[in-house]
Amino acid sequence: MAETMLNPDAVAALFRPTADAIGLPGRAYASEGWWQAERERWFKRGWMAIAFESDVPRVGDMWPVDVAGWSLLMVRSAIDEIAVFHNICAHRGMKLVDSPTRGARIVCPWHCWTYDLNGAIARQPHIGGPDINQGGSTYAGLKRVRAAAWGDIVYVNLSDDAEPFEDFIAPLKARFADYDLSEMRFSGLNSDHSFEANWKLVIEGGIEDYHLPWVHPQEGLNKDNFTPEFDDRDCYVGFSSRYAMTREANSLRNPQGEGELPLFSHLARYESADGLGPECGMFVVPPSAVYWLLYNMFIPTLILPLGPNATRQRRSYHFIGDAATDPLLSAKREAVRTSWESISAQDTPIAIRVQALQHQRDEAGIDARFSAYWERAVHHFQQMTARRMGLIGGEAV
Ligand code: FES
Ligand SMILES: [Fe+2]
Repeated sequence: MAETMLNPDAVAALFRPTADAIGLPGRAYASEGWWQAERERWFKRGWMAIAFESDVPRVGDMWPVDVAGWSLLMVRSAIDEIAVFHNICAHRGMKLVDSPTRGARIVCPWHCWTYDLNGAIARQPHIGGPDINQGGSTYAGLKRVRAAAWGDIVYVNLSDDAEPFEDFIAPLKARFADYDLSEMRFSGLNSDHSFEANWKLVIEGGIEDYHLPWVHPQEGLNKDNFTPEFDDRDCYVGFSSRYAMTREANSLRNPQGEGELPLFSHLARYESADGLGPECGMFVVPPSAVYWLLYNMFIPTLILPLGPNATRQRRSYHFIGDAATDPLLSAKREAVRTSWESISAQDTPIAIRVQALQHQRDEAGIDARFSAYWERAVHHFQQMTARRMGLIGGEAV
């Protein structure tokens, strides 16, 4: 394991000022050893996003999710409660549910052990012999996982000993204090793509604006610069910008279609003194939650690590109040999704192409470097990665 991590010189180089820093090595993106260390040291011990609350809107909805080598089952167990279990039968380990479904019971396909929505055993047919359905009352039910949700995203803590979720998410909640997220409604629109790139490359690709003129020529060069956003407890990292949404031509601000998407109510009377727009931003809660916050939409996103070279990205499109479902605005909402999907279609091949040569980068001794103007958030994310992996002390540097 040791050779897959960072030696003290590499840690010191990562924590130099951005212009002089050396980024994470290629093995951080491609090696099995680093991946296993991420699973054990970070994903399992912390809070990891796995799904959307809106995946299970009705009591009895079940949503299986495979993430980082764990198979989990999310269930709406009551109107106001989501339960997450290991997706494994308490009898002999069968995978319980392999596609989204709905029911009052969770039924194992092998010997039909049956569980209620809280994971307790409800039936063990014929367990004591033909037509004898008793004898199993002392068996445990499903193995439940600690779960919590915020901003439509459901998180789990697999080790069961992370800090309370409310403490973990508090810095981001404080950052969003001006926004009333209860105004947001799920539109029913979403997206789902899997591709061959490390999850960190997907995040890094989203939090710098250096690549915009070449990868997203429709966006042009962002003269305002994305302002890096992070907290001192390593809850989130990302950017905000007051420039990106000001241009009339911006396809997200003014998507094609009739009608107007309303703004968050605290922005409805927004008046710009300097010609810039209200802020928009991307706030990543590593490893797998992202909140895109714009003034007329909220796009919770999952960047699910599947393996060192595999990531699944899901988006869930939310708009304000009735605008989320008003039939008159459906073309507008669909245009928003189309815009985001075309941005992803430009970014994804880049991530795949970077991923493909990470092993060779280390072999050739090629270090990763940063622009101190454009890539401060990427640099911060890599430092955060080192801290969350326990490669250095927890202090901010
Ligand atoms: S393994 Fe599930 S009932 Fe036997
Ligand atoms: Fe991009």
